[in-house]
Amino acid sequence: MNHLQTGKLWNDNADAWTAMARAGYDIYRDCLNTPAFLAMLSDVAGLTGLDLGCGEGHNTRLLARRGAAMTGLDIAGRFLHHARAEETRAPLGVRYVQGSGLELPFASASFDFITAFMSLMDMPETARVLAEAHRVLKPGGFLQFSITHPCTDTPIRRKVKDEQGREIAFVLGGYFLRQAGQIDEWSFSSAPAAVRAQWAPFRVPRYTHALSQWLNMLIDAGFSIERIGEPYPDDETLERCPDTSDARIMPYFLQIRVKKRIIND
Ligand SMILES: C[S@@+](CC[C@H](N)C(=O)[O-])C[C@H]1O[C@@H](n2cnc3c(N)ncnc32)[C@H](O)[C@@H]1O
Repeated sequence: MNHLQTGKLWNDNADAWTAMARAGYDIYRDCLNTPAFLAMLSDVAGLTGLDLGCGEGHNTRLLARRGAAMTGLDIAGRFLHHARAEETRAPLGVRYVQGSGLELPFASASFDFITAFMSLMDMPETARVLAEAHRVLKPGGFLQFSITHPCTDTPIRRKVKDEQGREIAFVLGGYFLRQAGQIDEWSFSSAPAAVRAQWAPFRVPRYTHALSQWLNMLIDAGFSIERIGEPYPDDETLERCPDTSDARIMPYFLQIRVKKRIIND
């Protein structure tokens, strides 16, 4: 499956995804992943930023509210339709561009920083995407991204319960079996059945790599690793969002910030 076929599947997911995420059912994003991502982010006020795989623009808007001059890029026109509608309703100066992470429609050295919230593992040819991100960053600029955790987002994954029915562990397997376009079907688990029934399940092609492959691809693309995060629901998060408790058993997400190396450093 190539990036255009992948983009078409995402386009088909966009209306349901936008409706359910905006209704508050993307709880791992809202309660856990995005707050940790923003806590790891340095000050972006006054910087030019690209949000790669911006979807309907939720996180792009958070960055614009922090004072960054944001461009959101996505391959799926329906996501951009929803993002632009929100920009019209409540303008933040965000520019939305349709394009692919594999061939970014921007001049070299255009951005101070790039974010990619849960999108890089959705694009084929990861090394090419990273090379493109490196190209459009200014020297010294940074890329910060979140992905499903390569060590726990494995083809075999089953929950284990104790005698009281509490979820306490996962059985994981197939870590080295790379997924390259295999399609997962799912929906937001916290959405009530009646809401989920209104939409077809998401169809999401997966592109996975082992942890060492991710890190080596970043290094080979010309980045230095600056910071790593594995978001975890603390007590306060659990009180607000009890349905994220399974993210205490093992890390669901990995967040990495890398810096574009100065040539010849
Ligand atoms: C899991 S969604 C994340 C959306 C958004 N960043 C968020 O956190 O809500 C992944 C996004 O990546 C986009 N995407 C997939 N392949 C892409 C590609 N080759 N280039 C740009 N965007 C792509 C999809 O259309 C989708 O919007």
